[in-house]
Amino acid sequence: MHNHAIARVGVLGATGYTGRELLRLLADHPRVRIAFATSEREAGACLSSLVAAAPELPLVRADDAPLGDCDVVVSCLPHGESMVWMERARAVGVRAIDLAADLRVPDAETPAWAAEVVYGLTELHRAQVAEAELVANPGCYPTAAILALAPLLRRGLARGPVVINAASGVTGAGRAPRADLLFAEVAESFAAYAAGNVHRHLAELRAQTEALGNGSTPELVFTPHLLPIRRGILETIYVPLAEPLDAPLSPWLDDYASEPYVRVLKDRLPSVADAVGTNQVVIGAVAVRDVSQPMLIVVAAIDNLLKGAAGQAVQNLNLMLGWAETEGLP
Ligand SMILES: NC(=O)c1ccc[n+]([C@@H]2O[C@H](COP(=O)([O-])OP(=O)(O)OC[C@H]3O[C@@H](n4cnc5c(N)ncnc54)[C@H](OP(=O)(O)O)[C@@H]3O)[C@@H](O)[C@H]2O)c1
Repeated sequence: MHNHAIARVGVLGATGYTGRELLRLLADHPRVRIAFATSEREAGACLSSLVAAAPELPLVRADDAPLGDCDVVVSCLPHGESMVWMERARAVGVRAIDLAADLRVPDAETPAWAAEVVYGLTELHRAQVAEAELVANPGCYPTAAILALAPLLRRGLARGPVVINAASGVTGAGRAPRADLLFAEVAESFAAYAAGNVHRHLAELRAQTEALGNGSTPELVFTPHLLPIRRGILETIYVPLAEPLDAPLSPWLDDYASEPYVRVLKDRLPSVADAVGTNQVVIGAVAVRDVSQPMLIVVAAIDNLLKGAAGQAVQNLNLMLGWAETEGLP
């Protein structure tokens, strides 16, 4: 059981989209002091140049970050770059939260120092997160899909294939410049990408849905889309059912009644605007008419930078430090 009055938190990769969002949350968090924040390209610039409320600290290169001086390090580094820093943090005994995908699905290749990693989907793994030394913060698409599907999977109600059509705003792709993400390429258009079950979030989606389904997990068909907006995700999920549901929303209303960051809409389906700027996953469901097999359409919306990344990281940080889960969150 950990219980700190104040904690020092270090941020690796503070200039990216998730890093800046995390800095913004930590700068206003009543119990957090920012110990350091890193950037390779903008080292020397002041944190307050990124986030007005942040302290007058200079950004440092990751090599110069005093990892041992904090209670928790949060990595907002790209996939593939994060592992080495997570290992260094653990080597000096510092607890860590990793926003990158590298440790979300432990397998035979997972190094021994990361063997106890906890998947940080807070609503599903709260008790383990509170005690964790190392947390793999979930991906943005999986956060919305898993929380949308969990009530059906737990009850053995979902049949396959479950089709997940997911659309994300452009910040989901990170801040590194790319020609295919230029304004002129994405504005006033809408397109699928990584179709055909080839997106790297699938491994994470499958691992978590299989754990929830307890032997009756349906196959998934996952198709991401790029939405020409800055932030926000909407997922429309088609779920064939084992049996019709008299009250289609009851599994979500029952399971999430006391969740601070899951909102179930009773009279309409969610929109991106319901979730952006909040740490909520907003969920709705309707029965499909005139089909031979009973089917639900479940819709979930999140802010990819909050519940899909930095907000969920703060939820997990709060639990790890013995604080109220909602502390410092919108
Ligand atoms: N964007 C999302 O919606 C989202 C949601 C969930 C999870 N994630 C995950 O969160 C992580 C960060 O995503 P992001 O979108 O914030 O990325 P991003 O905007 O591209 O930012 C990456 C950050 O990492 C730093 N960096 C890049 N290469 C580095 C290296 N070799 N060594 C040290 N620092 C390096 C960059 O610093 P400088 O360029 O200043 O040097 C920048 O601060 C990724 O692993 C991503 O998969 C993202």
